[in-house]
Amino acid sequence: MSLQGKKVIITGATSGIGRELTLQLSEKGCIVGITGRRKHLLEELSGEMTGKSFIRQMDVSKPEEAQQELLSLIDEMGGLDIIVLNAGVSSKNREFKWEPERNLIDTNVTGFCALLNTAYHHFAEQRSGHIVGISSIASFLPNPGSMGYNASKAFISNYMQGVRLRIKKAGLPIDVTDILPGYIYTPMTEHRNDMFWVSTVDKGTAQIVRAIEKKKFKAYITRRWFWVAALVRNIPHRVWKYIS
Ligand SMILES: NC(=O)c1ccc[n+]([C@@H]2O[C@H](COP(=O)([O-])OP(=O)(O)OC[C@H]3O[C@@H](n4cnc5c(N)ncnc54)[C@H](OP(=O)(O)O)[C@@H]3O)[C@@H](O)[C@H]2O)c1
Repeated sequence: MSLQGKKVIITGATSGIGRELTLQLSEKGCIVGITGRRKHLLEELSGEMTGKSFIRQMDVSKPEEAQQELLSLIDEMGGLDIIVLNAGVSSKNREFKWEPERNLIDTNVTGFCALLNTAYHHFAEQRSGHIVGISSIASFLPNPGSMGYNASKAFISNYMQGVRLRIKKAGLPIDVTDILPGYIYTPMTEHRNDMFWVSTVDKGTAQIVRAIEKKKFKAYITRRWFWVAALVRNIPHRVWKYIS
């Protein structure tokens, strides 16, 4: 599918994958609505884009406000074809404190669902649209240091699978793409020294763009993570204590 002229909204466009995705989709001729909390970075990014852009400051951890902002942005853009639900935070939270855990759930789970819900109803009414969610390979890897993050990504992937089934049952022409990145070098991961098979943000994002073009159900970024997924899904729970 050609992305030329498509109206796309990206959450969490101020840095990392969201920022690079904005630039690559703009290069492909998309009209892009960019969102995030840091307005000055949205303005800076808008200045770098080749195509038309729209800016909306949005905090997804305030779900009802974010839903209103999304609706008004769709209105301003004159419609929406694709939404990329990318905004997310990670937290090691080794002390297992509640506040970072809650912020993570508010952002990665509640914010994700709220905006997916708004986009779903918009797409259902117009009888077309494409929902893209950024999950992670963490979704199938339990980890004692980042339980909240990994579980939030498991939620996202499982939720999107359910949404896809719901769409099919309702006979709606809406596509759903679950993106599962492995390690990509961005501000979220730049402090880490335990990563392997790390992709640059431009290479990883180019694979995300291809998955959107092909309207894939699921895409591992980079592709080799598919094999890790296939392997670890069959590891019995009692074995994880020796691995993690
Ligand atoms: N990098 C990786 O290796 C990797 C691997 C797997 C999955 N992912 C996922 O990919 C997505 C992007 O991550 P990244 O690596 O590009 O990280 P990043 O550079 O830290 O970018 C995160 C983005 O999310 C936005 N965001 C965070 N909290 C928000 C909130 N409450 N409201 C609105 N926007 C918010 C940030 O914008 P503001 O701060 O301006 O609001 C920022 O634009 C995340 O969902 C992450 O979990 C990343």
